[in-house]
Amino acid sequence: MCGIVGYAGKKTAYPILIEGLKKLEYRGYDSAGAATLSEGRVHLAKTEGRLADLEEKVGGILPGTIGIGHTRWATHGRPSDENSHPQAACSPDFLVVHNGIIENYRELKGRLQGLGHEFHSQTDTEVLAHLLEHHYQGDLVMALRRTLAEVKGSYALVFLSSHHPDTLYCARKDSPLVIGCGEGENFIASDLPAILNHTRQALILEDGEMGVITAESIQVYDAAGSQREKKIVQVDWDVQAAEKGGYPHFMLKEIHEQPRALRDTLRGRVAPDTGDVLLPELEDCERDLADMEKIFIVACGTAAHAGQVGKIILEKLVGLPVEVDLASEFRYRDPLLTEKTLVLVISQSGETADTLAALRLARRSGCRVVAITNVVGSSVAREADNVIFTWAGPEIAVASTKAYITQLAVLYLFTLHLAKVRGTLAAGERKALAAGLLALPSQVESLLEGEREKEVEALAGEVARWPSTFFIGRGLDHAMAMEGALKLKEISYIHAEAYAAGEMKHGTLALITEGIPVIALATQEEIFEKTESNIKEVKAREARVTEVVFADQKDILEEVDGVFLLPRCAGLLAPVLSVVPLQLLAYHAAVKRGCDVDKPRNLAKSVTVE
Ligand code: G6P
Repeated sequence: MCGIVGYAGKKTAYPILIEGLKKLEYRGYDSAGAATLSEGRVHLAKTEGRLADLEEKVGGILPGTIGIGHTRWATHGRPSDENSHPQAACSPDFLVVHNGIIENYRELKGRLQGLGHEFHSQTDTEVLAHLLEHHYQGDLVMALRRTLAEVKGSYALVFLSSHHPDTLYCARKDSPLVIGCGEGENFIASDLPAILNHTRQALILEDGEMGVITAESIQVYDAAGSQREKKIVQVDWDVQAAEKGGYPHFMLKEIHEQPRALRDTLRGRVAPDTGDVLLPELEDCERDLADMEKIFIVACGTAAHAGQVGKIILEKLVGLPVEVDLASEFRYRDPLLTEKTLVLVISQSGETADTLAALRLARRSGCRVVAITNVVGSSVAREADNVIFTWAGPEIAVASTKAYITQLAVLYLFTLHLAKVRGTLAAGERKALAAGLLALPSQVESLLEGEREKEVEALAGEVARWPSTFFIGRGLDHAMAMEGALKLKEISYIHAEAYAAGEMKHGTLALITEGIPVIALATQEEIFEKTESNIKEVKAREARVTEVVFADQKDILEEVDGVFLLPRCAGLLAPVLSVVPLQLLAYHAAVKRGCDVDKPRNLAKSVTVE
């Protein structure tokens, strides 16, 4: 996500802000900005591009001993100077930097425009500055409380106002923010690496808390305005550990970020009372969607595995034929495309060369292209007809985890939306599935609890000892087997095969020998017994089978050697849960084998050449 740094002290703020932001560069960003106050005057500079571009633009320093800085990773509005933070209200007296997503910004923006506020960016963040200006009557804490009471969504934010030139105001909800305590100076940051060069004493803000910070004082309030006593935490992490949030690898950090990533991706996109999906991104193509006769899902790697899930749920709930193509195949096989073909392109980075070539081919053939991507301003986002963003935040580990799970979330949203547009699913069923979708982030959270992770770690110990592992399942479970096998291959270098469980006996069963690990996914009720028969086949060859099933599943085979239980959800939603133990299995097996988890050999995060 984006990076925030704030400083109030006696030194010149600007170099401290830039240095802090540089410590957050590893997270990725597309624009940068800073604002300081000196003698009651605001000094503001922001630019698309890198921190070096900002420094060049400023060409020296911004004066003042108080300020805020930001590196932005675009969400609402493409990367540009205007969309960079700090964002100002009508007057530059109210400035804000913000990480997160303001869900109801359209509605708030409309209301504020009605009251005469003029907006200068496409960001959701700008409403925060205008709302604060609107509510301000001399008491900024009060104005901030009123502002936050109107806002829905996630935020870590810091305000700077020339009306209170010695003070920074900050708040958080569902996005991290820490206050660093110094001698005669205090800091605010979205992440610890930004401040570790200056202090190791920190206050960690909790959701709903607000902070008021000067060079000499730190006050923290709860949402009701009562002052809170906070404990100062002594931070012992080195900078590298801090970058990973204390996790040993980015991959593990990103696996643990999945509940947050899912919440952000679903946020504001489902009306809980009706279950209707809100995707304004598709507003201009409802008619085309209603007339479509076929869908191609085109992607590479993990994104293509998300497509396999998409195919099954779209065919089941929307009744349209769906083909999943690897982009490198699609582009050279003369696919049968007509103007009634929808091409759904999935790409985390939005820059994968084959995916981009496939997108261009589809557009040249007159197809509508809807893209699912994680990067605003990427080539895929710019060239597709419609884009639905996943809000996973920047993914650093080469092996994709949180991007994949959010791609699934968007595929469910897209499917429910299409089912409504085409009238293929009764309102009650759509509502029930939407409710199940909204429950997934907490269910994923439960799978990441320490004890659950230890279960997988123990299994990883076994898997790490074998040269090969098999993943089997039917239907959606087969799609998950493919993703589980890919994860294991990518980072632990263990050979892994994903097989449709019913197909084993047509060849792969010959490879099953005594003790070999088999991960059997069996979450699909209607084919549960079929999968169990296949499990018996491998058990008869003395494989060591671990079954992944729902916790309330009755009649689990006694012969299996281990089970991993998932909290109950609708069978169609199971992939979002079953992928979690598979990711952890790959991760722990790779660690046990001493592999370079975040940067596996021969692989790249984004493959921008053919
Ligand atoms: C590379 C990455 C994979 C990713 C694939 C597609 O191979 O290592 O993790 O799934 O590219 O990338 P994209 O950015 O298009 O989703």
